[in-house]
Amino acid sequence: MFNFFRSTQKKDVLIEKPNHIAIIMDGNGRWAKKRFMPRISGHKKGLESVRNVISQCQKLDIPFLTLFAFSTENWLRPSQEVNFLMSLFQDSIIKESSSLIKNNVQFKLIGDRKPFSKSLISKIKNLERLTEKNTGLTLSVAINYGGRWDIVNAVNQYQKSDHSKKTFTQKDLIKNLSLNFAPDPDFLIRTGGEKRISNFLLWQFSYTELYFTETLWPDFNEKVFMDALFEFQRRERRFGKTSEQL
Ligand code: FPP
Repeated sequence: MFNFFRSTQKKDVLIEKPNHIAIIMDGNGRWAKKRFMPRISGHKKGLESVRNVISQCQKLDIPFLTLFAFSTENWLRPSQEVNFLMSLFQDSIIKESSSLIKNNVQFKLIGDRKPFSKSLISKIKNLERLTEKNTGLTLSVAINYGGRWDIVNAVNQYQKSDHSKKTFTQKDLIKNLSLNFAPDPDFLIRTGGEKRISNFLLWQFSYTELYFTETLWPDFNEKVFMDALFEFQRRERRFGKTSEQL
């Protein structure tokens, strides 16, 4: 049935907020190209949008934010860009750590760490440890992450534990996925105009509301974010039920 309340909700009052927002931060390269700048300038500017969206989530009391920063496929980019991104991640982990600690943010990195340098791995572990008791926003950054990798990795982890005779269940998989500490995302925002999920959280997106905006990630701001959140609260989430059952 047509949900009268939902369709007449005032656009400027945010009542239903997502518990967990995932973001595919796309469009850094195009943002730079439009300005005749190198692609890496787009990534640098994109870091400002990362800081802004973290503080927006804190302001709105959103408990979980998961950002897709580098996919298992992004290694195929020109080596200069890959190297730049890896040092940007490493520098950000160092430079942003005091602000994350001060702001009660719990930091997590999801993705395959194996190809990272020893120094990057130890910096990641250190920041995770320093923020593990924080009770505010849980910020997960996906680096060298792929949804397919995550599922296969979870199965391998399960197999290593001694359960070989038991029937494999959804719970067994979920326990071994890299986002096992968070509920499934309620809302995915993808910037940059493409309408796909690009091997992000394949398992967890089963009932996630998808939102695509033409805004390029470096231009992402509070207005674009709030517009997305107002759209989220207009959605009717049925999880397989009928409208009448809600
Ligand atoms: C996609 O845009 C963006 C990336 C592959 C990198 C994302 C990185 C940042 C936002 C910088 C800092 C992030 C953290 C978490 C420290 P694209 O390059 O594919 O853009 P295009 O589609 O316009 O080429």
